[in-house]
Order: sequence, then C-alpha cells, then structure tokens
Amino acid sequence: MISIGVIGCGHWGPNHVRIFSQLPGSKVVMCADLDDKRLAAMAALYPQLQTTKNYQDILNNPSIDAVVVALPTNFHFKITQEALLANKHVLCEKPLSLSAQECLTLRDLAIGQKKHLMIGHIFVFNQGVVRLREYIKNGELGQIHYANSQRTNLGPFRYDVNALWDLAPHDVSIFNYLFDGAPISVSARGHKCLGGKLEDLAFATLDYPNNIMINIHVSWIDPKKVRHITIVGDKKMVVWDDLDIEGPIKLYDKHVEKTDVYYATYGEFQLLSREGGIMIPKVGINEPLKNQAQYFLDCINNNASPVLSDAQKAYDVVRTLSAISESINKKGELVKL
Ligand SMILES: NC(=O)c1ccc[n+]([C@@H]2O[C@H](COP(=O)([O-])OP(=O)(O)OC[C@H]3O[C@@H](n4cnc5c(N)ncnc54)[C@H](O)[C@@H]3O)[C@@H](O)[C@H]2O)c1
Repeated sequence: MISIGVIGCGHWGPNHVRIFSQLPGSKVVMCADLDDKRLAAMAALYPQLQTTKNYQDILNNPSIDAVVVALPTNFHFKITQEALLANKHVLCEKPLSLSAQECLTLRDLAIGQKKHLMIGHIFVFNQGVVRLREYIKNGELGQIHYANSQRTNLGPFRYDVNALWDLAPHDVSIFNYLFDGAPISVSARGHKCLGGKLEDLAFATLDYPNNIMINIHVSWIDPKKVRHITIVGDKKMVVWDDLDIEGPIKLYDKHVEKTDVYYATYGEFQLLSREGGIMIPKVGINEPLKNQAQYFLDCINNNASPVLSDAQKAYDVVRTLSAISESINKKGELVKL
C-alpha cells in the first residue's frame, strides 16, 4: 500500500485525492493547502484525511511514500525539488516547470535520489489518444500530412500562466507522444484579447520530422468548449473529440488520389477525392486520471521508470512551449528547437 500526500487542493488536487483514495494499492494520508476553506471541504469529504496548511508536514512525514504536486505552475519546481530531497516519489502536475533547464535539474535529482518523478501529462493515458497513436504506428492513416488541435472554452482564467502554458502542455504532450519527440521548429502568434498581462489566445504551428505540420489553437475566450484533434493521412483521416463520450474517435476512409489520366491541355494529373465510410471504433472509457495514477503506482511498485510521462518528456514539452513563447514575443518568427 503506497501512502500519498497531496499538496494543493484547489480545483484539480481533489481529483487526485479521490483517485488515490479509490485505487486498491494506495491511500491518501494527508493533504495541504493554504486555504482553510479548501482544507475544510477536503476534511468533510474524507474524514480520515489529515489536513495541514504547511506542506512541509507532508514532506516530513516518514509514513508518506509519494507526493502529488497540484499547485499553481510557479510552485512546481521548488516543491517538487523539496519533495525529492525529502525522499518522496513525485507526481507533479503539468507543466513541470516554466524552464526547460529546471526540468533537467529535477530529472537528475530524481535519478540521484533513486525516486520516481512523473508529470501529469494526462492525455497520454487517454484511450482515445492511445488509439490515435495506434492508427499512426500501424499505418492505418498512411503518411501523415498534417494535424490540427483545438482546445478552447470561455475560461477558466488563470493568473499565474497564460493560455499557452495552461492549455497547450496537453496538446504538445499529445503530439510529442504521437510523433515520438519534440518538433524541429515552431512559429506562433498570441493575443491578449481581454487587455490583461497574459495572452488568452494562441495559434501555434509546429513542424515535426517527416514534413508533418501541426496546428494548435488554444483559447480562454471562445464560445464553445472544444477538445478536438484532426489528423490527415494520405490513406485515411481521423477525428478525436474528447467530449463525445459515445464515440470519441471517427476514422474516415477518405483520401485524395492522383488519376492516371493525363490532360494534355493542362499538363497535370487530376486529383480525385475518394470517399469511403466512417468507422466509429469502441474506445475504452477508463478515466484517464485513474490510468495515470495506476501507472504511477505500478512504476513505484516495480521500480520502473515512468517513461510515458517522465521528466525527459516534460523537458521536451517545456522546451517546445518556451520556443512557442519566444515566437509569440517575436510576432510569429520561426524558432528552431
Ligand atoms: N491534468 C489536467 O487536466 C489539469 C486540470 C486542471 C489543472 N491542472 C494543473 O493542476 C495544477 C493546479 O491547478 P488548479 O486548477 O487546481 O489550481 P487552483 O488555483 O484551483 O488550486 C491551487 C491550490 O494550491 C493552493 N496553494 C497555493 N500555494 C500553496 C502552498 N504553498 N502550499 C499549499 N497550497 C498552496 C491554493 O490555495 C489553491 O487551493 C496546475 O498545475 C494545473 O496546470 C491539470
């Protein structure tokens, strides 16, 4: 039985408390938050749970094996570092840091401490995204031309990081997972539509190896909550809609063919669209956060590195986001990674 402490019980931390309380191989011993109301809410839900305003109580508790860091991004590096130094395994929420170099510092510290450090790149534990990767790897889609991702909603607004750093860690971690690494270069535009200090909108274009072009649209000011990815291959096309619980994946048997007919007049091949059926595969509806938590526990129990979502993967996500930020600051200039 692995004992867990959760630091940060705002919007997202309570989901970690719920999941680790439900899984048979773990229990949540203590949670920390600066806000008394959040602690009172947690104590009301979980009478056995100890609560504290001082996260050091979790780090100093020898019965706690692992810590979840569900704090605003600015605290991730400092508290993850302290938790590793206190000999705890750590599951830190995304993004691991605002600095790629700090991700490497934490990676090396975890190795030195012989502790597992995992990052909450939750979408690599989403069965729909796993299916997208299968379609790419087994050749179902053929050669990938491009993909487009939209992650929009009206809020929730954050005051510690902009919409890019809030939302795009998900998209970047998904595409790095689908294409086995970081992009080669990026260009992006961002906008502070509401006149605040932080960009609430960003459009980023990422170039991956093999001439694959990816577009990411993230926004806090959009009329619709959308969690959507389209991937277009030269054999088939696929759309993933995370909010469509009945059939999140739709595989389109559509592609474009060049005919053999030679048109002397135009001196070019004719392009024909081939339209087949649409397949809606059955996709498991396991809660991604539960899959992520179980993977973390399995890695601790088997002393296996959490390669699906470790600090090296976080480094690739954070250096991609840093390059996108640089491009936004340079009004869309191409930035190489
Ligand atoms: N994986 C996902 O889908 C997902 C979803 C939402 C949020 N997140 C991530 O989770 C993290 C937290 O997000 P949130 O929406 O819960 O934020 P939040 O602002 O709602 O909650 C953060 C909590 O941390 C507490 N806190 C701040 N400093 C503290 C300290 N020093 N000690 C103890 N408590 C402290 C605050 O009082 C607050 O209750 C962020 O990194 C965010 O990116 C991930």
